[in-house]
Parts: sequence; structure tokens; C-alpha cells
Amino acid sequence: MTARTRVKQALAEGRPGEEYLLKGWVRSVRSGKGVTFISLNDGSTLAGLQVVAEPDLANFAELAGLGTGASLAVTGVLQASPAAGQALELKANRVQIIGGADESYPMQKKRHSFEYLRSIAHLRLRSNTFGAVFRVRSALAQEVHRFFAERGFLYAHTPIITANDCEGAGELFRVTTLDLAHPPLSGGKVDFSGDFFGRATGLTVSGQLEGEMFAQAFSDIYTFGPTFRAENSNTARHAAEFWMIEPEMAFADLADDADLAEAFLKRLCIHALNSCDEDMRFFNAQIDTGLIARIESVANATFARMEYGEAIERLRKAPVPFEFPVEWGLDLQSEHERYLTEQVVGGPVFVVNYPKGIKAFYMRENDDGRTVAAMDLLVPKVGEIIGGSQREERLDRLTARMLETGIDPAGLSWYLDSRRWGSTPHAGFGLGFERLLMYLTGMENIRDVIAFPRTPRHAEF
Ligand code: 4AD
Ligand code: MG
Repeated sequence: MTARTRVKQALAEGRPGEEYLLKGWVRSVRSGKGVTFISLNDGSTLAGLQVVAEPDLANFAELAGLGTGASLAVTGVLQASPAAGQALELKANRVQIIGGADESYPMQKKRHSFEYLRSIAHLRLRSNTFGAVFRVRSALAQEVHRFFAERGFLYAHTPIITANDCEGAGELFRVTTLDLAHPPLSGGKVDFSGDFFGRATGLTVSGQLEGEMFAQAFSDIYTFGPTFRAENSNTARHAAEFWMIEPEMAFADLADDADLAEAFLKRLCIHALNSCDEDMRFFNAQIDTGLIARIESVANATFARMEYGEAIERLRKAPVPFEFPVEWGLDLQSEHERYLTEQVVGGPVFVVNYPKGIKAFYMRENDDGRTVAAMDLLVPKVGEIIGGSQREERLDRLTARMLETGIDPAGLSWYLDSRRWGSTPHAGFGLGFERLLMYLTGMENIRDVIAFPRTPRHAEF
């Protein structure tokens, strides 16, 4: 019994005249006079392998009726293909139908809208577009680990269940085992002291606070894990569950942080272009012409740096109307971010030093007393892809900031300990992995770069 060969390998290094065993799913069947062509795909590559079935096969008659989506095991001999667009095809000696699929299979061979495909998220993985998306996703996740490993960063695992709301935006999903119909009350409020953890807990919005503790021990670290936000924004760029990569460096400032973010993003661009060539060409042809040119230019660009104050000036002078107001002290909305990166800079730009009133408590206060050492990296088409900062390492300032923003220092006493003993200037950032994938694939909806998206009112599958 020959070992199974994957389609990608057969196409790349298969030798004509030799016998191979392939297994996969039927993408299409075409029957002609005395011959049936089956396009077989096993997920290893975008292109399928053409299987040629002729009447010498015992079950030849049955094959003409094969449905899209059926699974097969095919033994055959590779041969040069006379058909355009493919060098090799497999002349079948034996075709075994493993799992049939009839015409009720919801992904028949025709174009389907992304909306429709979202309703069959469990099956869309077998389509060309989603095959390409999840191959790129996997390749990039692996490259993230290589990038940091090469630089000596420790890979840290931080908790998913937590009692802190790192970003302070009140977007924590509650985790509880209390009886929701009869929760214990105290003074009219739910009493979480009787809950599983003896306190109120939720799903993490960021691994940063724990990541900082790792950085104070291992110097350079990163996390890469799922993140949850009960943000009721039904946009194409927000998911309630997404993956984030968060590096943190001790003995580092905001400039070091931006340099790392720039090197990181460029490296991921280059990897997508070099290692996902076939899938990237597919996106460039089907989803976003100009994608490859844009990513190539980012890979070679020097990212701009712009003060928040200057960004506000530029936006105020913009000859276009914005829906949201532009004023020093207000946060930048997606329309502003895109204008800055697309129209003003024409490429990636770090906006730095934001007003402290719109940023999280842990960011380091600048000497001007009104801004913090924050940075957002904005890129064309997506807007904010990275958010980061230098952290407040001074115990007194940090405690004061917590009180100002309504965070009880006693509840984060363990976090403050890192400033009590051996505190260091340190900095880090978070890259939203789905935002990155949107950027690199041209897919315009975050629901189409994560397999089973969680968004308001949607948690099927
Ligand atoms: O800017 P954010 O909120 O920063 C943090 O969470 C920091 N603790 C990171 C750090 O300094 N270690 O989120 C970081 C990134 C954003 O730039 C964006 O790419 C992504 O996470 N992001 C989301 N992606 C998808 N859906 C959402 N709801 C997102 N919210 C943030
Ligand atoms: Mg942010």
C-alpha cells in the first residue's frame, strides 16, 4: 500500500510515470465521451489535481454522477497534462468513494456571496477563498513565532479568565457559575464572593498586564492568544473574539517599541509574499487588485511617525467632510485614521503621543502633563492595526493615574508590585491578528478571516 501524497507535493515534485495515492474532496466533475475529469482538492494548495477516469475503472459509471464535496481516495499514475494551466494530471487506476455528497451539498460549484458563505462557516473552509485565507493565516501564525524566537523573545502564556479589565473600557465578558435566575445579592448588587473564583471575573481583553510581569523577569517576551471584547460595535473590523500578539520589552521606550512594530509588520508582509505566493496571487486577482503591489511597497517603506497634535492639524485642514468631529482631545475614528494613512502619508504611519484622557491608565505620562507615550500604527484600508505604548514605570504616577481613571489600586496590587521592586522603563504593543490578515489578504470583513466569527448576536458553530 503506497503512502498518501498531498496534492501540493504531487504537483510540485511528483514524477510522471509513477504511481501515487491521493485523498481529498471533489471540487468539480466533468464528464465527456468515455472520460470523466475530477478536480481533487485536499487543502494543501489552491490548485486541485485533475484526476482522469476512463472506462477501464470498475466503477466508471458511478463516477460521472459524483457530487461536488464528496471525498475520494485515488490511486493513479501521474502524467503530463495536455490541458492548459496544469502540468500534471493523475490517470486513475482506482477511485474509491469514501464519503458521498449529493446535490443538497450547500456549496455547489458556482460563485457564492461572502454573506451566504458565512451562514455555512463550517463548510466554507472547503472553498477556494477560505482555503487561501486559512493557509495564509496558518503560515503567518508560524512566522510570528519564528520572528520572536530569532530575537530571543520568550513566548508567554497569559490567563484567559481574569479579574482585570486591562484596557479599562468595560468590555469584559462575565465568567460565572452563579445561578442566573437566583444570584446572591448584597445591597441590591450581585454578590460575587459566592461565585466560582470568589470574585467577579471575565474573559481577558488583553494579556498585557500579565505580559508585563513576564517582561520584568525575562526582558523580552510576547504572547499570542485569544482576546475577548464585549464591544457592541457591529463593524467590519471588530470581533468579540479575536487573536492578539503582544510583545513586551523591559529597558525599552516608545521609539524602541515602534522600531520593533515596524520590523515585525514588514517581516510578516515579506513572509506572505514569499511563502504564500499562490494564495496571494489569488487574492490579488479575485479580491483586491493592487494588493501585492501595496504589500511590496510596505515591506520596503520606512514607516512615518506623526505626533497626535499634528494629525489633528492635518485632519482639520482636510478638504473632505468627516462624520465625526476633529478636535484635540478626541479619539481618532476609523475615517480619520484612513484619511491620515491613505491621503496624508500614503503608507503606514505611527501616530504617537495621544492625549491621556483617551488612553488606558498604564501608559506613561509625557513631560507636557497632557499626553501619554502611546502609539497607534495606521495602515491603508484597515486603519489601526497595532496599538501600543511605553508603560508608566513610576509607582506614584501610576497609582495617581489609576485613581484618576477610577481603578482601585488595591485590586491591582500585584501589578503595582512590578513598580515597587526593580521597575524598568518598558514598552509593548498589540497586533490584532485578524486586522493583519485583512490587510494582507484584502478581505474586507473581519468575519471572513476568522473561521467561526463571534460578533454581536452571532456565536453559531
Ligand atoms: O489598541 P488595543 O486595545 O491595545 C491593547 O489591547 C493593548 N493592551 C496592547 C498592548 O499594548 N499590549 O488593541 C490592540 C490591537 C488593535 O490595534 C487592533 O488591531 C486589535 O488589537 N483589536 C481588535 N481586533 C479585532 N476586533 C476587535 N474588537 C479589536 N479590538 C482591538
Ligand atoms: Mg487601540
